[in-house]
Amino acid sequence: MRKGVIGTVYHGESRRPMESVLSQSYRLQSGYLMPIVGLGTWMLNGSTCERIVSMAIQLGYRLIDTAELYGNEAEIGRAIRGFDRSALFITSKVSSAHLSTNDIVHACSRSLKHLGTDYLDLYLIHWPNDAIPIEYTMEGMQHLVEQRAVRSVGVSNFDVGRLQEAIAASEVPICNDQVEYHPYRPRREIPEFCREHNIALTAYCPLAKGAVLHDPVLTRIGRRHGKSAAQVSLRWLIQKGAIVIPETSSLSHLRENIDLDGWELAAEEMQEIDNIGIEAKVVDTVYT
Ligand SMILES: NC(=O)c1ccc[n+]([C@@H]2O[C@H](COP(=O)([O-])OP(=O)(O)OC[C@H]3O[C@@H](n4cnc5c(N)ncnc54)[C@H](OP(=O)(O)O)[C@@H]3O)[C@@H](O)[C@H]2O)c1
Repeated sequence: MRKGVIGTVYHGESRRPMESVLSQSYRLQSGYLMPIVGLGTWMLNGSTCERIVSMAIQLGYRLIDTAELYGNEAEIGRAIRGFDRSALFITSKVSSAHLSTNDIVHACSRSLKHLGTDYLDLYLIHWPNDAIPIEYTMEGMQHLVEQRAVRSVGVSNFDVGRLQEAIAASEVPICNDQVEYHPYRPRREIPEFCREHNIALTAYCPLAKGAVLHDPVLTRIGRRHGKSAAQVSLRWLIQKGAIVIPETSSLSHLRENIDLDGWELAAEEMQEIDNIGIEAKVVDTVYT
């Protein structure tokens, strides 16, 4: 069995098409399992957020991605209340304004309170903050792991250089990096580094916030498989070894975004998508 592999799930290479994506997980360095498909919630709030999160869980989603900055942790807390917490995987992120050792501990405690849970499955640094030495932040993360408030820790919007600094500064393993990743923001260096260091890579904006939905290459490939461009984008990322967290406020899109089983992209189709050649960041970040 390869490093970072559980069952038939492979990081960084094609996964088995016949096994449901909902049952596939990535074995994090902490030892915990992270589902490879989840729900993003950046723009969801209020009753829509509560309803969509609840519907998603009923459909089989287990990974829910939030952040203190999204302002929707209380809604998510209400949505998950009726479900078995141990079957869910909740990711939250600490704001880059709260990265000192004390601030991060307080920020996590607020997130737990809003979410109505006593632990986070994964806690990420949302963005780097050069004003606060990474050692201080990782000390706070370590404390949270020791207190069992957090099971696994990671980062977001970290390039390879910052990942190396975080790894060197941390007593607990850096289990995950979450970065913008889609066919219009293809990546080479970060996935390769993550694969080599057994860091799960989460693709945020996996549909480029909708920008890839009418792409002619994705549409043509999708037609061949009887799938949408959105599904082709998600499938391409999964076959690259990434974890995907598409966001939607629509029930039909919730269903569509997990209808990824029983088919896969051929090597030539993967290559065609690699060759699209459009570079379009949808999140304005200077970091990655
Ligand atoms: N760490 C970070 O800094 C960071 C930054 C950005 C995002 N994120 C995370 O990543 C998640 C996803 O990113 P995102 O929400 O920005 O972008 P996204 O998932 O790439 O795109 C969301 C958009 O696509 C539409 N959509 C979803 N499924 C669809 C489908 N099957 N067919 C057609 N349209 C579809 C949605 O509209 P409908 O509502 O109409 O479906 C929505 O407008 C966020 O929610 C957040 O959790 C993290």
